[in-house]
Amino acid sequence: MSLLEQIAFFREFRRRFETTGSILPSSRFLARAMTEPLRAHPRPRPLRILEIGPGTGAVTGSIVSQLQPGDVFDLVEINENFVAVLKNRFESDGAWRLRAAQSTIHNCPLQAFQSTAPYDVVISGLPFNNFPMSLVEELVSASWGHVAPGATYSFFEYMFVRSVRCSVGAKGDRERLTAIESYLQGRFRDSRFRRDWVFANVPPAWVQHLRKEA
Ligand SMILES: C[S@@+](CC[C@H](N)C(=O)[O-])C[C@H]1O[C@@H](n2cnc3c(N)ncnc32)[C@H](O)[C@@H]1O
Repeated sequence: MSLLEQIAFFREFRRRFETTGSILPSSRFLARAMTEPLRAHPRPRPLRILEIGPGTGAVTGSIVSQLQPGDVFDLVEINENFVAVLKNRFESDGAWRLRAAQSTIHNCPLQAFQSTAPYDVVISGLPFNNFPMSLVEELVSASWGHVAPGATYSFFEYMFVRSVRCSVGAKGDRERLTAIESYLQGRFRDSRFRRDWVFANVPPAWVQHLRKEA
């Protein structure tokens, strides 16, 4: 990722903290962990892949490098400044340009995105901890609705952010984070098949990998 893209990310962090949710884009180690289910996916046929909240493309690059001819890749991003960065990348970066025809960027909130069919691999960068509980529920059910039976859904959470903010944050924030934690744990208890620990990221993160019942 170029310095200009890092600067663009930081600018959006300051401008739209609520939706951007982090000061820096994901590291390549986090991107690799997030895309592991795509790497491991059997390929008897082309795949449908959805990325939610691609930002400046830190994880997108890793997805693009694994796309095969015939795969369909949709990206849903709420922030038009990030969309401009991504479009530029699909036009100017050789590896991305190769996959531009099979990739579509949708500039809208996930809640408004409608697809023609569910996806084999869904990868989400949504910062759940920044959102009110009602929005987390809305986004989780919108995301899960795009996961095909037997398909995977991967998302990351910054390690211990909930515990740290719960011990130093305001009471309302503590209650919100506790509610999010118990909602996510309960909602995905039966579908989680793996959790990766990624220390080489600012801040370190867990990647949760879920599979929908076939
Ligand atoms: C923590 S950043 C992750 C960016 C990138 N995936 C990465 O790992 O560096 C969260 C991203 O989600 C996007 N986002 C937040 N709410 C969204 C929503 N409701 N629908 C679509 N994208 C959203 C933000 O604009 C931002 O690009």
